[in-house]
Amino acid sequence: MRSKIVAGNWKMNQTFEKADELLYQIGEKLEDNLPKNVELVICPPALYLELATDFAQEIEFKIGAQNVSEYDNGAYTGEISAQMLSSMDMDYCIVGHSERRKYFGESSDVLSTKVQRLLEYGIQPIFCVGEQLEERESNKYFDIVKSQISEGIFNLSLSEFSNVVIAYEPVWAIGTGKTASPEQAQEMHAYIRNLVSDKYGVEMADETTILYGGSCNAKNAKELFSQTDVDGGLIGGAALNAEDFITIANSF
Ligand code: PGA
Repeated sequence: MRSKIVAGNWKMNQTFEKADELLYQIGEKLEDNLPKNVELVICPPALYLELATDFAQEIEFKIGAQNVSEYDNGAYTGEISAQMLSSMDMDYCIVGHSERRKYFGESSDVLSTKVQRLLEYGIQPIFCVGEQLEERESNKYFDIVKSQISEGIFNLSLSEFSNVVIAYEPVWAIGTGKTASPEQAQEMHAYIRNLVSDKYGVEMADETTILYGGSCNAKNAKELFSQTDVDGGLIGGAALNAEDFITIANSF
């Protein structure tokens, strides 16, 4: 059975005090509302990863980073390597988020190297794909997602691939309040699962966790998560509110 995951991507938000408070509130909410059979993942800014790992010793959630360097350790000012993340007990790391592709010019080559680095150190990549609005409107969305997946993760061996989580995040839905309909999400998730099946076989496809991201919130999560091929969510804005985040985690 593939895992169900709800991951919170805090992006570049929160001061240290606010991060501490939010983690505390999440811990409190989880005390009487622990989601069953769902893995909760929190991806705070890198500066607060240690704070989050401290909380995670007592609270039931895993930790993810939002980015990793494509380089190994060395003279790369400002970068954080996969080995460093692994030495901080990181479980996951987001790769290929549309904001990294757009604002930091991360190409498929760079993303594929980042995935490799993470896997070398036993960290599971949450690999994001998704089309822009004009690509949806011109019916190119399947082709775009197919090439992002082929170029980013289809060079992996079967055993490497088994550690990858995929997140479908239509760019037009991220931070816009304009969620994909459950039918649109299901259609793309089924398509992605099919691509995985063609490449790695039905069994692998069946085991692959595919998350939806893009304005997923406490109100619409249930309907999205009820779709056959939607195995949870990558949550941005709504993950900054403890109550909403835990409601989403309990929406299966
Ligand atoms: P959003 O962001 O939930 O705020 O739309 C999702 C994401 O970018 O991962």
